[in-house]
Amino acid sequence: MAQDTLTITDNRTNQTYTIPIEKGAVRAMDFRKIKTDPEDFGLMTYDPAFMNTASCRSSITFIDGERGILRYRGYPIEVLAEHCSFLEVAYLLLFGELPNEAELQDWVYEITHHTMLHETTKKFMEGFRYNAHPMAMLVSTVAALSTVYPQARDIRDPKNRLLQIKRLIAKMPSIAAMSYRHSLGFPYVYPDNDLSYTENFMNMLWRIVEPKYVATPALARALDVLFILHADHEQNCSANTMRSVGSAHTDPYLTTAAAAAALAGPLHGGANEEVLKMLDEIGSMENVSAYVKRAKEGHGKLMGFGHRVYKNYDPRAKIIKRTAEQVFEVTGRNPKLDIALELERIVLDDEYFIKRKLYPNVDFYSGIIYQAMGFRPEMFTVLFAIPRTVGWLAQWQEMLNDPEQKIARPRQVWTGHEVRQFIPLAKRTTAAPLP
Ligand SMILES: CC(C)(COP(=O)(O)OP(=O)(O)OC[C@H]1O[C@@H](n2cnc3c(N)ncnc32)[C@H](O)[C@@H]1OP(=O)(O)O)[C@@H](O)C(=O)NCCC(=O)NCCS
Repeated sequence: MAQDTLTITDNRTNQTYTIPIEKGAVRAMDFRKIKTDPEDFGLMTYDPAFMNTASCRSSITFIDGERGILRYRGYPIEVLAEHCSFLEVAYLLLFGELPNEAELQDWVYEITHHTMLHETTKKFMEGFRYNAHPMAMLVSTVAALSTVYPQARDIRDPKNRLLQIKRLIAKMPSIAAMSYRHSLGFPYVYPDNDLSYTENFMNMLWRIVEPKYVATPALARALDVLFILHADHEQNCSANTMRSVGSAHTDPYLTTAAAAAALAGPLHGGANEEVLKMLDEIGSMENVSAYVKRAKEGHGKLMGFGHRVYKNYDPRAKIIKRTAEQVFEVTGRNPKLDIALELERIVLDDEYFIKRKLYPNVDFYSGIIYQAMGFRPEMFTVLFAIPRTVGWLAQWQEMLNDPEQKIARPRQVWTGHEVRQFIPLAKRTTAAPLP
């Protein structure tokens, strides 16, 4: 018998089945042949929240959570964060290889020349309430781009797809900046093609009356590094949404809006905002020990610690911690950093957290940097969505090009009634109480 197989005995029938194991996985469809009789539907696997189900084969992002490893297309995240620009990494994620100089120049040119928003999109955004949350504005506006580019519906044509990919990557910062300025009541700033991706974003966010906005290089680089770190993270909730909605052949604007909606949830992209609230609540270094003690006693979790996949130091958190120091050299030290460092020191030395493998995650330090740079907490998830758009689009392309993929359609384990006798309205005696 081949070694890479799994033998299962069905104790209901005493039948034995052998199914192949490939890359550490068995195919759920192989279980369907396990039946009690020919009429039986066959065995299903039940996996709420996809705790142990691979939904695709992928060659984009690799994570080894036990060892704290994150790689894009085989390159360690630390190397990319040190040597590349965000758009260089975007190219790598989307096309599988790092660009050479000429390819990068073309790519940057293309993205730069798609950053403008149609005036109707601007008008659309002006219609939001003065206090609209920037993330809700971003989600709705990305969906609205579908009305501006109806040809995007032809998702089978690779050239057409690439055009929409460029537009989405280019327009995300423009939409994000407009949503920010709208919430402040400031006039919108148009993109400046002389500037890099992050410098231009900063220009659209913060330019007031100066004829030319000049970003502080250290801050522009820090934002670029943060964008690299957030660009993809394999099959997380929003990537899964992107693949699932995209599998219905929905256009990329509506699909990306759906993924961004998933990211907007506090369990996904919103945790960095919670970290800031927690650090405010702790207030000073002397209170850290007592706060940790309360968390251990079950009174709330320490935000920014723990991860479903990483059971080691999140490699992105290490880079962010270094980046924080570079940002603070320009902005001045955010006093919350000292509280954060003390919290990390105590946690990493505490039996409770060591036993549960709870380490700082990407959200622990990112909020502190964003705040020092002048962002309000409502913008944090928007700052996550800009670079993650690249990851979503890479996952979307991979899904569309995968001959094994079809429309995503999970099964269910039925727990409801068998067929019931209908009772006419006048004869019903008991009603289900209104919730
Ligand atoms: C990220 C997170 C949702 C992962 O959850 P998970 O993989 O389902 O892990 P669990 O919730 O089962 O946690 C396992 C154990 O560690 C504890 N734990 C997990 N995260 C903790 C935290 N941040 N603070 C204190 N205890 C924590 C749990 O209470 C549990 O303890 P128990 O075994 O005594 O019951 C969780 O760690 C968390 O809520 N962290 C804080 C929020 C956050 O930073 N999110 C951003 C993620 S990038």
